[in-house]
Amino acid sequence: MTVSQPTLDDTSTQTTAAWWRGAAIYQVYVRSFADGNGDGVGDLAGVRDRLPYLAELGIDAIWFNPWYPSPMADGGYDVSDYRDIEPAFGTLADAEALIAEAHALGIRIIIDIVPNHCSDAHPWFVEALRSEPGSSARQRFWFSDGRGEHGELPPNDWQSRFGGPAWTRVPDGQWYLHLYASEQPDLNWTRPEVHAEFEDILRFWFDRGVDGFRIDVADGLVKHPDLPDVGEATDRLPYSDMDGVHEIYRAWRRIADSYPDKRVFVGEMWLPDPERFARYLRPDELHSGFNFDFLSCPWDAARLRAVIQSTMDAHAPVGAPATWVLSNHDVTRHVTRYGRAGDTGFDFADRRHGTVVDRELGTRRARAAALLTLALPGGVYVYQGEELGLWEVEDVPDELRQDPVWARTNGADPGRDGCRIPLPWSGTESPFGFGAAAPWLPQPAEWADYTAQAQDNRPGSMLQLYREALGVRRAEPALGDGPMEWVADLPEVIAFRRPPGFTCVVNLGAAPVSLPEHESVLLSSGPIEGGELPPDTAVWLRTR
Ligand code: NOJ
Repeated sequence: MTVSQPTLDDTSTQTTAAWWRGAAIYQVYVRSFADGNGDGVGDLAGVRDRLPYLAELGIDAIWFNPWYPSPMADGGYDVSDYRDIEPAFGTLADAEALIAEAHALGIRIIIDIVPNHCSDAHPWFVEALRSEPGSSARQRFWFSDGRGEHGELPPNDWQSRFGGPAWTRVPDGQWYLHLYASEQPDLNWTRPEVHAEFEDILRFWFDRGVDGFRIDVADGLVKHPDLPDVGEATDRLPYSDMDGVHEIYRAWRRIADSYPDKRVFVGEMWLPDPERFARYLRPDELHSGFNFDFLSCPWDAARLRAVIQSTMDAHAPVGAPATWVLSNHDVTRHVTRYGRAGDTGFDFADRRHGTVVDRELGTRRARAAALLTLALPGGVYVYQGEELGLWEVEDVPDELRQDPVWARTNGADPGRDGCRIPLPWSGTESPFGFGAAAPWLPQPAEWADYTAQAQDNRPGSMLQLYREALGVRRAEPALGDGPMEWVADLPEVIAFRRPPGFTCVVNLGAAPVSLPEHESVLLSSGPIEGGELPPDTAVWLRTR
């Protein structure tokens, strides 16, 4: 490896106590990252082999999707043991070695914690099923009698986020709540032992050196005690963003703060109201949260500017840094979104699956979007494969689809397999260096041109752009955490200054625009000719 990556003791911006405020965090979906043991499924050995790749990319931290033992009813978000590693991924010793090796390269580790629900194979749920209605084992979950003359109807009208009712009936006639798949029973956070258990799990991993947690469904842990029907209401749901949830995170923050170095939380909250979102980021709660308004926003200058501004406005009063996210393991990859005619935003209710995609256009916009997000103030997330310019694979054969969303909606929603295809590393045919065997989801043949190897030294490749951009971002005092100010410009241009001496300009319009006065061009997402910025192109400028 030829790069020199700072170690965690260095004092540059991204490595000081407030490292997370401006960190570039790479998301690893373990199953699909790299397969070290050749069984077609990604694993920790594969990640360890590729740590030099991530160091060279120039990221500050890795966020791992759940790596715990799991029946994989929902890609690992159905956890059966929170204190171990999924055997298909490796062992606890592998995880400890990985953490140490990443730290030696200056890369921090964030892992996923799933507190809203566990797996139906978790010992608590197995015990609950064997226990009497009303027993303390059942009270760790939301068991309830049904409605109707014989209790044959679910206790209320709540719907699973994966489709179908949020209740499943067990043989003795009671029902249990699952806001996701039926294999993911919701935990009952009115029970002190649930709190104690998760606080102990946090310590278990903090003691093993993890630097932070990504909190799954962070807004969902507390339910309205009466479990009322939702009815027609869609704005405030009785299982989302209930006020009581904040006490949980205050207790978690005290645990994180009890460690001498900085341990952090990032919350997954899909909330419509930025002010309600920011309540999770008050100084004694979570450090940051994913900015899904930005992710969901169409490729449109006015709308993106408005989202950026509302993000800054909501974060400022609580003193939390914003985060910028383009893609993750739940959403349609942004090369595809941005290449569509019409709506280029993201919406769970309509994935626009199968809409015609101009991939060249989507790629050009994705390049510009990368420079936009990497220049905005705060932290940034890079979802594995976006640095290779991968797109959503929309033609996964139905019989190979794994996401429970597909089955629970009877195929109405294709689900999320298309953004979880195993990465192409090298070679000219599948498995493209991912591993030795056929990968657990098939890879498109066109990925031969998109492997990390093919892009490694190819001038102008997406991989080169990300490496250069992350390198500039790391070296540039203006970038990461800090202030920004808008540069008033044309309606279809997004332009802002980051002091000292840095300006980012993105042209989302149909015609080229003149560059503002500048000393030099630091980086651009596409060729710049005659001092003009072409459509769907971004540039980083050295300015006064
Ligand atoms: C959000 C996760 O990102 C998603 O992948 C998962 O299916 C749900 N939470 C349920 O855990």
